[in-house]
Amino acid sequence: MKQIRKAVFPVAGMGTRFLPATKASPKEMLPIVDKPLIQYAVEEAVAAGVTDLIFITGRGKRAIEDHFDKAYELEAELQLAGKHKMLREVRGLLPAGVNCVYVRQGEALGLGHAVLCARHLVGDEPFAVILADDLIDAPVPALKQMTKAHARNGASIVAVQEVARAETGSYGIASTRRPTGRLARMTGIVEKPRPQEAPSTLGVVGRYILSPRIFDHLKRTKAGAGREIQLTDAISRLLAEEAVYAYRFEGRRYDCGSKLGYLEATVDYALRHEEVSRGFRAYLDRLPRAEGRRR
Ligand code: UTP
Repeated sequence: MKQIRKAVFPVAGMGTRFLPATKASPKEMLPIVDKPLIQYAVEEAVAAGVTDLIFITGRGKRAIEDHFDKAYELEAELQLAGKHKMLREVRGLLPAGVNCVYVRQGEALGLGHAVLCARHLVGDEPFAVILADDLIDAPVPALKQMTKAHARNGASIVAVQEVARAETGSYGIASTRRPTGRLARMTGIVEKPRPQEAPSTLGVVGRYILSPRIFDHLKRTKAGAGREIQLTDAISRLLAEEAVYAYRFEGRRYDCGSKLGYLEATVDYALRHEEVSRGFRAYLDRLPRAEGRRR
């Protein structure tokens, strides 16, 4: 089975849940401590062996392109100031042999439409899709877990996790056959069903390995939930003709597209960050007393 070489990063969404922070700068550039969300996503793809990074961008997303470009002036300044560690970090954002390509999604018509914009670059091979606002902390990077499974069965694979029934309206929800290990053959998928109508509580998380046939289905997909062209609807058609598997990844997922998930990720990553963990933990330890004084 061939290695997954290409990953699509749809980053053209409006990020309305983070306004006004996302009015002029992309949601994907929000940092978790000191690294933007998109960089965590790119590192995950590179760890899975991906070499071609395809970003689907839109209005106001220039910062993402700048982030992965070489920054000559900044590097010169850091060199002059003898800040070698920082210089290594800035230079080492992308390993040699990894290429970035940017495609504009002229209008934010939905995630499915964003993925379709990558068709001419992906061509006729299976590819990955990563949503940077789903940050996954895992012993083995989530996409690598999935590419390993793909290497064994060659099929499309969608990451899933159990969600609360009350929250099915925020997710694509999959129904499956009985699982074998972490994989289960998908029998259906619906976008954002109401809790009483959801076929299961298996929520789709932003990691996919998709067969190129998905593009034909996306091309025919009309706007669905939220008046957007939904990737979920195209996957639903795909699984009628090809095997698609749901994969229960190992790891913790933070919904960094929501304020609460973003804050949880920030706290957990800060508590492990080599530079700030001690000071931050000490600060948190002082908090209850400070709260008491305030009351
Ligand atoms: P979301 O549903 O999180 O939408 O998109 P959003 O616009 O980013 O954020 P909110 O809901 O308004 O706060 C899921 C993913 O699909 C991308 C987003 O960038 C995000 O990574 N997307 C969505 C596109 O690239 N284009 C679209 O038209 C819609």
